[in-house]
Amino acid sequence: MGNILDGKALSAVVKDEVRSEVAELEKKYGRKPCLCVIIVGENPASQVYVRNKVKAAAYTGMESLLIELPASVSEEELLRKISELNSDDSVDGILVQLPLPKHIDEEKVIDAIAPEKDVDGFHPSNVAGLWLGKDCIVPCTPAGVMRLLDSAGIDLCGKTAVVVGRSNIVGKPVAKLLLDRNATVVIAHSRTADLGAVTRQADVLVVAVGRAGLITGDMVKPGAVIIDVGMNRDAEGKLCGDVDFASCSEKASWITPVPGGVGPMTIAMLMKNTIRCFRARV
Ligand code: GUN
Repeated sequence: MGNILDGKALSAVVKDEVRSEVAELEKKYGRKPCLCVIIVGENPASQVYVRNKVKAAAYTGMESLLIELPASVSEEELLRKISELNSDDSVDGILVQLPLPKHIDEEKVIDAIAPEKDVDGFHPSNVAGLWLGKDCIVPCTPAGVMRLLDSAGIDLCGKTAVVVGRSNIVGKPVAKLLLDRNATVVIAHSRTADLGAVTRQADVLVVAVGRAGLITGDMVKPGAVIIDVGMNRDAEGKLCGDVDFASCSEKASWITPVPGGVGPMTIAMLMKNTIRCFRARV
């Protein structure tokens, strides 16, 4: 069986790094970094994620601000709130949990966040920075994936990396980060013909689709490194990824579990991004 890439353990290390940094920053600048998290409506999955983000911020010692808005809030009102936070000097990072209710245009909301406070790295100027190879805020989940690969000493140079999924949040940015490490990157998606034929080429396989059991052992090259970004509920309501762990872990050299793989790393990297925004603002 493959080795486990333990995101829970690694996220604890990262959060401890942040905790020391927060203490240093407070000593040096007389204030702590402050992360503001906005949630709109009552999506249960989003509520769990947001609660965990605020809990992580508290653990690191940074300030956090949770703004809970009803699902009925107007787009205008949400944009006004963001504008207020943009000009609030005590706020370093702003995160609006996605997805948003249908009557709110997500693109408008992302565009409204000041790029220097965009801890998600979703603003067009941060996305442009990533693709142009500038030193900029990197989205949390892709950053967490890279940190997991680095923690196991996995060399990506010249390797074939297959990313399944092409979202702005995970698929596209993680593909760019893998490319930056000189991997040969293939992006597969829902329209890919013969997905198995593509995934079997992968030395490193990153799956971020949102479909339980999409990747089975027969679709994996022996010795592959498998990163499962999926967060699904199975028939019994148990959390599971996009990768069938039982059959794939037989073939993999390294594999992330769900839960306890990428999920905790996303939150840990959010803490890192908040520190980064703070440093750029003081
Ligand atoms: N929804 C799912 N993942 C994310 C994320 O990384 N950031 C935000 N803001 N919303 C999300």
